[in-house]
Amino acid sequence: MKRIGVLTGGGDCPGLNAVIRAVAKSAINLYGWEVIGFEDGFKGLVEKNYRALDLDGVSGIIHRGGTILGTTNRDNPFRYLVEENGEKFFRDMSDQAISNLADLGIEALVIIGGDGSLNIAYNFAQKGVKVVGVPKTIDNDLSATEVTFGFNTAVTTAMEAIDKLHTTAESHHRVMILEVMGRYAGWIALEAGVAGGADVILIPEIPYSLESVCNKIIERTDSGKKFSIVVVAEGARPEGGEMVVQKLVPESHDPIRLGGVGNKVAHDIEQATGKETRVTVLGHLQRGGSPTAFDRILSTRYGVAAVRAVNNGRFGTMVSLQAGNVTTVPLEEAIGELRKVPIDYDLVIAGKAVGVSFGD
Ligand code: F6P
Repeated sequence: MKRIGVLTGGGDCPGLNAVIRAVAKSAINLYGWEVIGFEDGFKGLVEKNYRALDLDGVSGIIHRGGTILGTTNRDNPFRYLVEENGEKFFRDMSDQAISNLADLGIEALVIIGGDGSLNIAYNFAQKGVKVVGVPKTIDNDLSATEVTFGFNTAVTTAMEAIDKLHTTAESHHRVMILEVMGRYAGWIALEAGVAGGADVILIPEIPYSLESVCNKIIERTDSGKKFSIVVVAEGARPEGGEMVVQKLVPESHDPIRLGGVGNKVAHDIEQATGKETRVTVLGHLQRGGSPTAFDRILSTRYGVAAVRAVNNGRFGTMVSLQAGNVTTVPLEEAIGELRKVPIDYDLVIAGKAVGVSFGD
């Protein structure tokens, strides 16, 4: 092994730079390999845009959010949007990507991404490319690892937002709604909500009853607590109802972009209880900023473990945290199924025990 490649795919996420740094530093320091970083994820792989990552190039980035390499959550080499004679259509460009790797003398590729990028990684592995995946996503919805990097930072950001919303909630005796990300899983809402002392937490895994949510708010008012904090995961939905879709991004692995349920819940609560209600949609703030210490450490461990997996020839795998140890699991397992919050999960039970309503 002389030269490896690395790329970041999908939405940006705190800790990406810490992984890139760990991959490059450990590949250079431990094995003397050269490291090539592809620009803007799989787009750079297809279009052969890359840069050499030496020790200087990855220095001073462990604390920086985003990715120095750039990323996109639209470009899939197996279904790549091309334009010819003014016409746009999808084409399989995976052979082009593979021939670019061969031209550059890249023997193995580290792919840092969430389920979309890891699906692409799996498809490349099926075509004989030597790949190792690193699990990234603020949503924490990958089933083959106990935790993804970026999640802890997103939870911390959301918790701090709840702390700040308490101020206005208490002063104005209002219901304050915070809509957080997470797609089809409620991990961010659950952890940030419990950590921030939310009164109601609505997650996709537990469809809510408006009556039950309003009862909680009225019960609080009656007991002298004139405000309530409601954390709503973007994928939350009422019993018998649907998730709120904000827009569609057709080129994306998962074209559905959720968003807007916070406004719906606020409107419904105001109508039903008469209490003044306000909404904050935290949005991409959850993906921004400096990673927490936890995420910097996890990212460093994942990056070093990915390079170790390459050295040990463990291709077609993803690095994964299992009972505190970083190990590898087959990519197939990693993309099999999204990890959702079990309804009898310990933190759901603990939340209920301290008075949180999940709207059920
Ligand atoms: O998967 C990460 C995530 O931030 C989700 O929580 C959210 O639903 C989605 O990406 C937003 O995607 P985009 O950046 O395309 O709006």
